[in-house]
Amino acid sequence: MFVALKRIGVLTSGGDCPGLNAVLHGVVSAASTRGFEVLGFLDGYEGLLNPVRYQRLDPVSVSHISHLGGTILGTTNRGRFVAKVGAGKKAEIPREILHQARDTYRGLNLHALICIGGDGSLSTSLQLQKMGMNVVGVPKTIDNDILATASTFGFDSAVTCVVDSLDRLHTTARSHKRIMVVETMGRHAGWIALHGGLAGGADAILIPEIPFHFDKVARFAKERASLGIASTMIVVAEGAIPAKGHLSTVKSALRGKGEVRLGGIGELVAEEMEKRTQQETRHVVLGHLQRGGNPTALDRILGTRFGVGAVELVGKGKFGHMVSYQNYEIGGVPIAEAVARIRTVPPKGQFVHHAREIGICFGD
Ligand code: F6P
Repeated sequence: MFVALKRIGVLTSGGDCPGLNAVLHGVVSAASTRGFEVLGFLDGYEGLLNPVRYQRLDPVSVSHISHLGGTILGTTNRGRFVAKVGAGKKAEIPREILHQARDTYRGLNLHALICIGGDGSLSTSLQLQKMGMNVVGVPKTIDNDILATASTFGFDSAVTCVVDSLDRLHTTARSHKRIMVVETMGRHAGWIALHGGLAGGADAILIPEIPFHFDKVARFAKERASLGIASTMIVVAEGAIPAKGHLSTVKSALRGKGEVRLGGIGELVAEEMEKRTQQETRHVVLGHLQRGGNPTALDRILGTRFGVGAVELVGKGKFGHMVSYQNYEIGGVPIAEAVARIRTVPPKGQFVHHAREIGICFGD
């Protein structure tokens, strides 16, 4: 009997993140086991638009990619599909763009489209779903700020980068008896700073969820100095906001295209610390080092399992759902639930409480 081959599409959208290739490996391998054909669209949703760009993915083409950072399909967070314009603010994708994407989907006779992306890209996938496309999501971000999943792949790799950097910075800060300020990524969530800071031995951690006072952080550093502790390590999330101040952003020629770029708070904190403590202070912005490089073992495993889980959702016809990680199991949740708002650090939660218990200052 002739069995029609199901064809599914896959794409990676938004900022890249270690573990994307592991997801692709998981998707293609699990799809091939089921006899599905996979088309990988290039540069995120852009690949669905004219001129349509994709490549056929088979187990051979993804056989040695799981350990590699970045994405073999390419991605963008600035294209014609930008759906996220600020914290929790979503833009409607123009109808003609959605129609073009649907024409491609239909023209290629796709059964489903697996969209690997952050909250902005997942909101886009819902708009495609409403156009009649069968969509399955895979949550992706180093920021770990997506609701309905306990973790996203890429986060552990970013945290590991912060920890490696702090290990290096501690030795030079101590030798020179300096205050060291390290700015991390994470957008409007403090997870990377919190986890990286705790594991890397930060003395103060400043996060968006807890407005901080320069004076309080300075007093903390001075007290340490008076006790003979020569250096103080301050980790500040790029989205951290002084209680009497505002979000630090970067001027960009591309302003208006996609989300505003965050940055500059590390330098500001360093300036204010030096002024208030008279102790020599330096700052380091870790930037895209946190997003680059190969994924950790944890991210390779989570990525692979997310990929397999996404194909399972396609198999079960659970469209409009994304894979999620809860209690060590991969399951599925409605995408709409996951993108309703971002998942931020609970300021009164146990993690922050434990950090305070070991003397970490949050500047509040
Ligand atoms: O969302 C992931 C992230 O790395 C954020 O932590 C950061 O603010 C942003 O992307 C940087 O984006 P871009 O690569 O466009 O500068």
